[in-house]
Amino acid sequence: MALKNISPTDTIAWKNLTNHFEEIKNSKILDFFQDPKRLSDFSVSWKNFYADFSKNRLDRKTLGLLLDLAKQCNLENAIQSQFSGKKINKTENRSVLHSACRCIASDKILVDGLNVVPGIIDDRKRIKSFSDKVLNGQITGSTGKKITDVVNIGIGGSDLGPRMVTESLKYYKSRLTSHFISNVDGDHVYEVLKTLNPESTLFIVVSKTFTTQETLTNATTIKSWVISKLGKKSVENHFVAVSSNESAIENFGIKKEYTFSMNDWVGGRFSIWSSVGLVISLSIGFENYNKLLKGARLADDHFKSSSIEKNIPVLMGLISIWYNNFFKCESEAVISYSEYLNKLPSYLQQSLMESNGKNIDRNGKNIKYQTGNIVWGNTGTNSQHAFFQLIHQGTKLIPCDFIGFKHPLHNENHQHDILMSNFFAQTEALLMGKSLEKVKAELKAKSQSKELAPYKVFKGNIPSNTFLIDKLNPESLGSLIAFYEHKIFVQGIIWNIYSYDQWGVELGKQLASSVLNEIETKTLENHDPSTSRLIKFYNTKE
Ligand code: F6P
Repeated sequence: MALKNISPTDTIAWKNLTNHFEEIKNSKILDFFQDPKRLSDFSVSWKNFYADFSKNRLDRKTLGLLLDLAKQCNLENAIQSQFSGKKINKTENRSVLHSACRCIASDKILVDGLNVVPGIIDDRKRIKSFSDKVLNGQITGSTGKKITDVVNIGIGGSDLGPRMVTESLKYYKSRLTSHFISNVDGDHVYEVLKTLNPESTLFIVVSKTFTTQETLTNATTIKSWVISKLGKKSVENHFVAVSSNESAIENFGIKKEYTFSMNDWVGGRFSIWSSVGLVISLSIGFENYNKLLKGARLADDHFKSSSIEKNIPVLMGLISIWYNNFFKCESEAVISYSEYLNKLPSYLQQSLMESNGKNIDRNGKNIKYQTGNIVWGNTGTNSQHAFFQLIHQGTKLIPCDFIGFKHPLHNENHQHDILMSNFFAQTEALLMGKSLEKVKAELKAKSQSKELAPYKVFKGNIPSNTFLIDKLNPESLGSLIAFYEHKIFVQGIIWNIYSYDQWGVELGKQLASSVLNEIETKTLENHDPSTSRLIKFYNTKE
């Protein structure tokens, strides 16, 4: 069996955590700092990262019990199983090897007895060669014009990862401008097309299955647009495919040299490391793309070989479980103090929520405890002027991850100091709060009414993790993304679920396809009363 079926709630550690929670639930984080080793024991310095876990509602005993939970759920063996290519994605009978795409040539990773490393290295060489040729003008459009724009057509994992990385690393941008079309919203397609010159644009159709309705619809619309502007023959110069479905690519009219493969052991939401990263390589150049892979590989080494009490993704996963399952927090926020990372929350929404939003365990039984939490967020300081009110003074406990960098990229140090002063201030404000006595004293000093006092109190004691990273670059971003990937894995193992399938997206797809038929034929099948009336209204449009 690739993964053991251990219900976390049956472990001794879970029972101990449940009892311990009662002792500690009202404790103050600030009091934990009386422990002289609080900072050293609750932080990890790794390469250019400083991960501070000390501002959390847990003490040494909690941490010990959480680590016991990880051990009793067989986490260390599970990590080995994943990296060695065991078929841990049992419901799809697949290995989970996105991390293999970060390999070096001397590695050996077996799937069904075959070493997959040479294939990965070949794919990488093809990405390099293709990106180099587009960038140096050897590959041109059908009329001989140099490519200036690339459009990634894909959705979900075939969009969110490449879009987030391209946006996050736009400081390192090549001469190409990248665009992303994901939603099956024709208005958006034409908003993008109207900015483009077809002669100098390359369209990359990214779909692991090459059956996804949104992607194929958008690709077909765009193909007709290109043909209307440049003629039928131009398709082979302007369309590239990334997919595992070779025959469908061929039917679409994309030539072999412009086709990049995908393996079934790379899940869509973890696929930036595979050929799905083509648009990234085009957008920032292959060397930078390779550094992204390197950063992730270093994070893999850390995850595989560090002791669990100093293991960044293990701690991220365990601390999140502590809030989710014991404090019953429904959500967690990710706040990056870099505008470059503005797409990180939507990327994490897919990777965390599509992976761990499961209610059946690895025994096929209904789960009676909470699994995947809701992840959301935005950049700081913007979010301070939006939803931070609720985090500071609302009724919900929302643990936050803060991500910030020591150095700005444009050397605008003065502004960076302002940005980062907010970063530090927010984590401190969440921790410390502001007492009624202090508020009253301030009001008195300003001769203001003390009636306002309760409204100005901050209860504080709100937990956060802080990731202070030297600089945003391809390598540090690669590590950061890989840490979140491994966090997902840790949580899935402990929650005893299968993190790498996504059956929950199927029902809506099926229904949409039959509703489309009803719209096109102006008929109405059996629906619930509300949906029937809605479709009827829609179908009455002129
Ligand atoms: O939303 C479901 C899903 O299967 C995702 O997991 C995947 O990333 C996305 O659709 C796109 O799939 P494909 O790459 O096959 O078009």
